[in-house]
Amino acid sequence: MHSHSLSTMILRTSLLLIVAFMATSSIASTSRQTTYIIHMDKTKMAANHSPGSSKQYYEAMIDSITKLSALTEEQGQDKIPPKVLYAYETAFSGFAAKLSTKHLESLKRVDGFLSATPDELLTLHTTHSPQFLGLEIGKGLWDPTNLASDMIIGFIDSGIWPEHVSFQDTGMTPPPSKWKGVCEKGTNFSQSHCNNKLIGARAFFKGYESFAGRINETEEYRSARDSQGHGTHTASTAGGNLVANASFFGLAKGSASGMRYTSRIAAYKACWRYGCVNSDILAAIDKAVADGVDVLSLSLGGSPKPFYSDSVAIASFGAIRNGVFVSCSAGNSGPSSSTVDNTAPWITTVAANYIDRSFSAIVKLGNGQSFEGSTLYYGHATKQLPIVYGKNAGSAGAQYCINGSLNKKRVKGKIVVCQRGQNSRTGKGEQVKSAGGAGMILINSNNEGEELLADPHILPAAEVGASAAKSITKYLNSTKNPTASIVFKGTVFGKPAPMIAAFSSRGPSSIAPEVIKPDVTAPGVNILAGWPSMTSPSGLKSDKRRVVFNVLSGTSMSCPHVSGLAALLKSARKDWSPAAIKSALMTTAYTLDNTRAPISDVGSSNSVLATPFAYGSGHVDPESASDPGLIYDLTTDDYLNFLCTLNYNSSQISLFSKGNFTCPKPGAFRPGDLNYPSFAVNFKGNAPNITVEHQRTVTNVGPPACSYNVQVEQPDGVLVSVKPEILSFQKLGEKLSYKMSVVSLKGPTKTSSTSSFGSLTWVSGKYKVRSPIAVTWSWR
Ligand SMILES: *[C@@H]1O[C@H](CO)[C@@H](O)[C@H](O)[C@H]1NC(C)=O
Ligand SMILES: *[C@@H]1O[C@H](CO)[C@@H](O)[C@H](O)[C@H]1NC(C)=O
Ligand SMILES: *[C@@H]1O[C@H](CO)[C@@H](O)[C@H](O)[C@H]1NC(C)=O
Ligand SMILES: *[C@@H]1O[C@H](CO)[C@@H](O)[C@H](O)[C@H]1NC(C)=O
Ligand SMILES: *[C@@H]1O[C@H](CO)[C@@H](O)[C@H](O)[C@H]1NC(C)=O
Ligand SMILES: *[C@@H]1O[C@H](CO)[C@@H](O)[C@H](O)[C@H]1NC(C)=O
Ligand SMILES: *[C@@H]1O[C@H](CO)[C@@H](O)[C@H](O)[C@H]1NC(C)=O
Ligand SMILES: *[C@@H]1O[C@H](CO)[C@@H](O)[C@H](O)[C@H]1NC(C)=O
Repeated sequence: MHSHSLSTMILRTSLLLIVAFMATSSIASTSRQTTYIIHMDKTKMAANHSPGSSKQYYEAMIDSITKLSALTEEQGQDKIPPKVLYAYETAFSGFAAKLSTKHLESLKRVDGFLSATPDELLTLHTTHSPQFLGLEIGKGLWDPTNLASDMIIGFIDSGIWPEHVSFQDTGMTPPPSKWKGVCEKGTNFSQSHCNNKLIGARAFFKGYESFAGRINETEEYRSARDSQGHGTHTASTAGGNLVANASFFGLAKGSASGMRYTSRIAAYKACWRYGCVNSDILAAIDKAVADGVDVLSLSLGGSPKPFYSDSVAIASFGAIRNGVFVSCSAGNSGPSSSTVDNTAPWITTVAANYIDRSFSAIVKLGNGQSFEGSTLYYGHATKQLPIVYGKNAGSAGAQYCINGSLNKKRVKGKIVVCQRGQNSRTGKGEQVKSAGGAGMILINSNNEGEELLADPHILPAAEVGASAAKSITKYLNSTKNPTASIVFKGTVFGKPAPMIAAFSSRGPSSIAPEVIKPDVTAPGVNILAGWPSMTSPSGLKSDKRRVVFNVLSGTSMSCPHVSGLAALLKSARKDWSPAAIKSALMTTAYTLDNTRAPISDVGSSNSVLATPFAYGSGHVDPESASDPGLIYDLTTDDYLNFLCTLNYNSSQISLFSKGNFTCPKPGAFRPGDLNYPSFAVNFKGNAPNITVEHQRTVTNVGPPACSYNVQVEQPDGVLVSVKPEILSFQKLGEKLSYKMSVVSLKGPTKTSSTSSFGSLTWVSGKYKVRSPIAVTWSWR
């Protein structure tokens, strides 16, 4: 993976980024320098240096390399001296620097060199461009006990709007003494913008600027101030104040509140207009851990890659080692399988689901048919108007209503049907409006299925699902003068929920299928949370509306829910490790919806039921998680043992181990022995009668003396046995082990891998400690 050139990396990211970076990629290539993230083994470095002096140390090292290579140089090459952008010292050891390939070669010979990865751009996990929905936060999920103790949540995101009501510090005491963070000065940001609620704000852009050129301060704040809105939204979701009477133009009205609303908040801005660069993200995580955050929330990601070349995995391992809980969004690449990102076992990976409220609109066709759709448009109903679609509405691209494709004469005064894809959903509405259209029906293709996202459209508009879309196009074909109207119903409660969002990325993990990913699901569709007062809710420049709260969807929105819940649990159970908190969230998660039916999946085409590859262990339930009975705990050495089973070599392992770690002998630790709170069982090749064993150890955190019985819901195609079947505890904190054996009764089908699902639950009175089992058969 280290062989990818920088330009390949850029091309692999989304269309927006290719366009955005057209101008700057030439700069990068002429300078013959690339930003690399260099990992160093501190135990093997030639000279020791004191904490805080790493940057000077690496600069001196680079300096000597430059002088050395200048001696052997042909004239003209490598004129530009290398530059150290960041030194990393808390979460892991190393630095980021702009280097030529020649400098890199010299660097590889330095003692302690482990690896060099070209820097790469990641994206924020909202579901593509502006997608906005609305929803009340925290209902039923929120347990406000222990809110008095100090918890600090750090956000690696697009910054923060410090004046927002969600971040006011009325009645709050000064930050805890352990806090070492600062409030950095920058564009429209000064030290006085922090307070006892927003206790830290830093900006990281050295890596980004070496990609994109200097940030244009008239378009974007070169500081922790948030111009995108994403960071303000995620921070207020996890830890924003309780704010009464919040709404989006009257929709989703109610109290807005962070999951742990008395948390302190620290913003680490590493995401800019075109994305987030790894070297900046790493610097942000490193600083956040050094500053003393308790929880880190990362609503971002790229394409899945092996953990040894995944910067977020490496840096978050350092965070976990320092006792910091890390939650990450699973990604918005669903419903295709094996799309889940951020799958390292020490990370809590969060899927996204709908909750029980929607923003309803009814589309009525001239033939009497009507369909329920979704929107945040809040005006009067349209009249029954002519509708146009595709070539009847304009030129090439008119079916997507892309920029400039609509014909004013054909569209004026009509409702335009626009298909999802190509451009942003609110952007389609902008096109229809500027062409004189009176309204828009946004239709899903099969890919988006019945996903209904409510967006802050700037004209009367609603989105309908794929099946309604078929009826509408059929109707359009069947009549000469098709008509439709849209009626806006506003906020509607009582929908079946949770349902897994189609966009939520799915397992199994393509990097380590030995662990089920995602881990849990949390609300991520129609989330109402804080918004900067200078940014339009639709993200459109032509939209002059300004709001205090906005509605977004994405695993970006579900992740901070879990970050806030982790802070709640950490204050309730101060002695729990990050792994214990995650175990509690997982083993108490539920898999039935509010109608007592299994949680359904909006993105599935044939089966309507969600599987652990969509929601992991299920939907988080914080009150149960605060009293889980048993926990599956893990240490950093356990994770390292697991990495050994992935056949990572010693230099790959030392990226995580900070030096000194030796893998156990082959077979002494099997992938299934990672003390994880869920079970991924993999049969490769011809499997009948093959047995796979999993070893687990549970710790009693419930009543001192109690006895648990095992209950197994057997997946199809296997026989599961557990030994022992009863665990009798005498003490709090006592650890007992058990073994689960799984025998395959069949082999794989010839063409594709297949999976079946079940569960293993330890039951004692009110305690049900549940772990999903996912069995997968594949040829290779
Ligand atoms: C940022 O600061 C400049 C100069 O002080 C001021 O003109 C501008 O209005 C500020 N913008 C915001 C959004 O605060
Ligand atoms: C910065 O952005 C403004 C507004 O878009 C533009 O007028 C200006 O030319 C830009 N400056 C640079 C240096 O690109
Ligand atoms: C809530 O907002 C409405 C207007 O949107 C206002 O009439 C009402 O007084 C507000 N209530 C509170 C408690 O602030
Ligand atoms: C759309 O096209 C118009 C001119 O045709 C242009 O001014 C505008 O910037 C374009 N908008 C986008 C989002 O590309
Ligand atoms: C409508 O007609 C177009 C061609 O005129 C065709 O491509 C499309 O499949 C038809 N749709 C339906 C639902 O019949
Ligand atoms: C580990 O693998 C990487 C990538 O293949 C390689 O560059 C490195 O030299 C290997 N290290 C050891 C100690 O084998
Ligand atoms: C490395 O491990 C060995 C054996 O476990 C131990 O003796 C040594 O002190 C360790 N070195 C460091 C730098 O931690
Ligand atoms: C699997 O084991 C059963 C009983 O132990 C035996 O009857 C059967 O032939 C075995 N199947 C295979 C494919 O080995």
